[in-house]
Amino acid sequence: MKADFDLDEVESSLIQLVKEAGIILRRYFESGGFTQRQKAGVDFTTQADCEVDQFLKDKLAKKYPNSNFLTEESAPADYASLADKGNLWVIDPLDGTINFSRKHSNFAISIALMDHGHTRFGVVYLPAENKLYFARSDKDAAYLNGEKISCSSTAALRETVVACDWAWDLDKRKTLVAWLGRLSGHIRQIKSMGSAASDLCSLAAGKIDVYIHSGLKPWDAAAAGLIIKKAGGVVTLPDGSPWSPFQPGILASNKKLHHRIIRLVSPQSTATKVMKSRIVASVIIEKDGKILLGRKKPGTFPYPNCWIIIGGGVRLEKETVEEGLRREVREEANIEIADLKKLEFAEDNEPNKHGEMTHYLFLTYLARYQSGTPTPGDDVNELRWFSKQELKTIKISRPSIIRFKQLGWL
Ligand code: IPD
Ligand code: CA
Ligand code: CA
Repeated sequence: MKADFDLDEVESSLIQLVKEAGIILRRYFESGGFTQRQKAGVDFTTQADCEVDQFLKDKLAKKYPNSNFLTEESAPADYASLADKGNLWVIDPLDGTINFSRKHSNFAISIALMDHGHTRFGVVYLPAENKLYFARSDKDAAYLNGEKISCSSTAALRETVVACDWAWDLDKRKTLVAWLGRLSGHIRQIKSMGSAASDLCSLAAGKIDVYIHSGLKPWDAAAAGLIIKKAGGVVTLPDGSPWSPFQPGILASNKKLHHRIIRLVSPQSTATKVMKSRIVASVIIEKDGKILLGRKKPGTFPYPNCWIIIGGGVRLEKETVEEGLRREVREEANIEIADLKKLEFAEDNEPNKHGEMTHYLFLTYLARYQSGTPTPGDDVNELRWFSKQELKTIKISRPSIIRFKQLGWL
């Protein structure tokens, strides 16, 4: 279903409006002159939250009379039924109130235009850092200050930077602690930066790889959720089931890591079971100090057009890994190899040629060229011998890059 509003018009008006609201927040932030009021439990709000909430509602109601609103400072206790409304503005006037009140500049205004559960437009603005993120449902891009952004390409858990944050609801914090306990032994770092809207947008811009939270509200994540998806990321619940801003849990990632994070966080989840797996054996073939690489044909997944180490999927039901490897070398390069040596294994998640998310396990070997004239075949359309120095100058598939880095060649 389409929103009543013209998204070109919404984009220019909202960018202008959120900056005006940002001036109000910046003024309070710089002067520090605002009152605070305790909410339930450990939660609190400030004069700035309330003033900007009212400002945005007034301006939007005037400009778009046919609007519905869900704003943090005016939300009814039970807002679940609003999820089904059209022309719904979901607003957090100040996301990161703790940061704001403690002079940390990471706080944001978040505005989403939702239509029957779908976010049509999302903008997140950090007034103290002058960063403006936005995305719209009818375009395939997300922007930071007018430049296209995209999620990171991190594929290895040991290189993964996760951000999380803490719900105001103290019981929900225990759930997060359990998730972090299961993640922490596998990943590079866990951060907590204090503004869900802003931090989710950092994921869209590739600054972190994963974001996890156990108790967000619609206004925290509605805009950023769209921005992440349009930057190539994925958003689900922490057990992998479909996400909506009206549900409290969120797991967002750069897509490549998603299934592995779900398996760690929610080991009982069935959501990852649909993922295919494939064992790929490949071999770095050396001759006179050079190595033989093949270039994947355009449109052959994964890694179209990239230079790859020769190899392919092993048919374990009818061959051993070594037999599969020698078969692939004949099919793709028409040569024979000798002196096979095993290297460390690696893994990656990529869509296969049918578009199905596939967990690849790469078993890589070193070998010496023995005989035959290299002739490309199968899904490789070019073969070439490269010196190790030349590897820096060509487009190589991600697992091959990882391998060359491990060997100190890149
Ligand atoms: C909070 C922030 C924080 C998240 C909390 C939110 P607020 O929003 O987004 O990062 O951990 O759950 O409530 O209260 O500062 O608008
Ligand atoms: Ca918030
Ligand atoms: Ca808020």
